Formats: sequence, structure tokens, C-alpha cells
Amino acid sequence: MISEIIQELDHIKANFETDSKGVDNDKDLENLRIKYMGRKGSVTDAFKYMGKLPNEQKPILGQKLNVLKTEIQDRLACIKQELEGQTRQKINIDVTLPGQFFFLGKIHPIMQILDEIKAFFMGLGFTVELGQEAENDFYNFEALNIPPDHPSRDMQDTFYLPNDLLLRTHTSPVQIRTMEKQQPPIRMLAPGRCFRKDTPDATHSPMFHQVEGLVVDRNTSFAELKGILLAFSRKIFGPETKIRFRPSFFPFTEPSAEVDIWWEDEKQGRGKWLEILGCGMVDPAVFEAVNYDPEVYSGYAFGMGIERIAMLKYKISDIRTFYNNDIRFLNQF
Ligand code: PHE
Repeated sequence: MISEIIQELDHIKANFETDSKGVDNDKDLENLRIKYMGRKGSVTDAFKYMGKLPNEQKPILGQKLNVLKTEIQDRLACIKQELEGQTRQKINIDVTLPGQFFFLGKIHPIMQILDEIKAFFMGLGFTVELGQEAENDFYNFEALNIPPDHPSRDMQDTFYLPNDLLLRTHTSPVQIRTMEKQQPPIRMLAPGRCFRKDTPDATHSPMFHQVEGLVVDRNTSFAELKGILLAFSRKIFGPETKIRFRPSFFPFTEPSAEVDIWWEDEKQGRGKWLEILGCGMVDPAVFEAVNYDPEVYSGYAFGMGIERIAMLKYKISDIRTFYNNDIRFLNQF
């Protein structure tokens, strides 16, 4: 019985060889496939013999059937490839035509500056932390000691989302999230998108990028903060860069300062101070919000707009050019 079945399989194979010879188009190929591998095809059909054999012979036939099935499948795939190759050859190719032009991708200027900023601070042992763009009141305001009546909480300034969420207005909430997760010492950098309800103009955009820095340890000082920010400014704007610290106010730092760089205007032949970032010593109220002991730990923080740094460094006068995706603009960096 089994030898007859095996003969039958050889038969199917031989028939397939003959049938496959004439196939030169997709339709014939499909018919060939159906004839052998379809639901009622000869190969599929031959599997019915399995049920008719005694158990000890089943593995022998099973193996033969599988070999046959694979062989036919492979052959069908081969023919398919050959057919595809033929159609390709039918298309005439003029190799003298100029090649197709395509643009090489580039790193966006905002990301280039961010990479420089990250490289500088990572060299000082800072880690990079990513927070979330949809925040809640606690992280964006309350834990940062921003009082309930502070103007930045205004509907006019903040994009509020359903379910008591809002789009973060600065990267400072990442400070809180990091301190909640980790114990000091902390040296972190948090870059990311921020959102404020500003009407777009040359210097405002409702979406922009900030990078935040936070250091918490036992003996930090304002002097250390000054040293780091001076080195940072010189790394980004050149070794001769002069900076000044101007007293300022942020609810989450005390004392607070804004840092300006001295900017020479080549055309007008005179210079002026331009603000580049905000900073200060972490307010003890912030430490209390994350259960750090302000008697043991101190810290400093700074935050800056990446667009602003890029605009100064590359002398870009309109922030909107960063988001227009005009290849002529982007290609310059
Ligand atoms: N979060 C402040 C802003 O958006 C910047 C800042 C960060 C100031 C950290 C001080 C310390 O303007």
C-alpha cells in the first residue's frame, strides 16, 4: 500500500515538472499553484492517504509529503521570481539619463544646538532626563512654589487640557519628577518642548524648546552655578564671551538671576546685553515638596530657551523660520 502511494507522489511530482515548463505569465502560474497546492490540488489531496495508513507507516509518508510540498512551493516561488525579472527587463532603461535628485537629511538647527548643550553638560556628569509634555498643576506649578494666583497659571498663558492636565509651560516640572524618583546627589539636564499661549511673531511661538539643569548636593553654591554657566556660555558663544548675572525672580529659586551675554553688533559697531537664561538656588519650598531636607541639601537650577540660544548663535531674526521647514533655511546649518 505505502509503496503505491509513494509512486503516486512521484507521479504528482513528474506531472508538476511537465506542467510548470510552459508557465510564462502570472495567470498560468496561479493556475499551476491551484492545481497542485490549492484546496483541492493534487498535493493537498495526497495528504488524505495519511488517514489510510497504519500508525507506524504514517511518519514515513508524512515526511515524503512534506518534502514534496516544500519542493513544489520552492519551485513556484522560483518561477514567480523569474517572471518578475522578465518584466523588469522589458522596461527599457536609458542609463545616460541623469540620476534622480534627492535631499540628504540633516540635523535640525534646534537639535544641533541641543546636542552641543548636552555634550557640554554631560561632560560635567549631568544625566539627561525626559519628562512629559502633558503635565498636571502639581508638577508644572504647585511643587515649584508657584502660587495659585500667579499670572503664568492664567488661561491666557497656559494651554489647559481635559482631565486636569495642561501642556507644560517650562521644563522645570522635570526637576520635580527627577527628585521624586531619586535621592541626591542629582546632576540632570532636561531638554524638551514647552507650550505657552503666545501669538506667533518674530520672537514668540506657542511651542518652543527649553533645556533645564538641576544640581542637588550637600555643598552647592551660587559660585559653582556662576562658574558652570560662564564655561557653558563660552563653549556655545566663543571663548571671549562676557556674561553678567542680573538679579531676578522665579518662585522656585532664591536667590534668582537672569544671565545676559554681551553682544557686539558688528553693523552698528556697538554692543548690548542680551538675556540668555534664568537660574538660581533651589528654593527650600521646592525641596519640601519632594521630601528632601533643605537643612541637608542645597541646589541650583537653570533653564533656557533653545530657540533663543540658536537665534543668537546663528543670528536668526525670526523664530518662525525654525518650524517652516523651508529647505533653503535648514540647509545653511
Ligand atoms: N523655568 C524658568 C522659565 O521658564 C527658567 C528657570 C529654570 C529659571 C530654572 C530658574 C531656574 O522661565
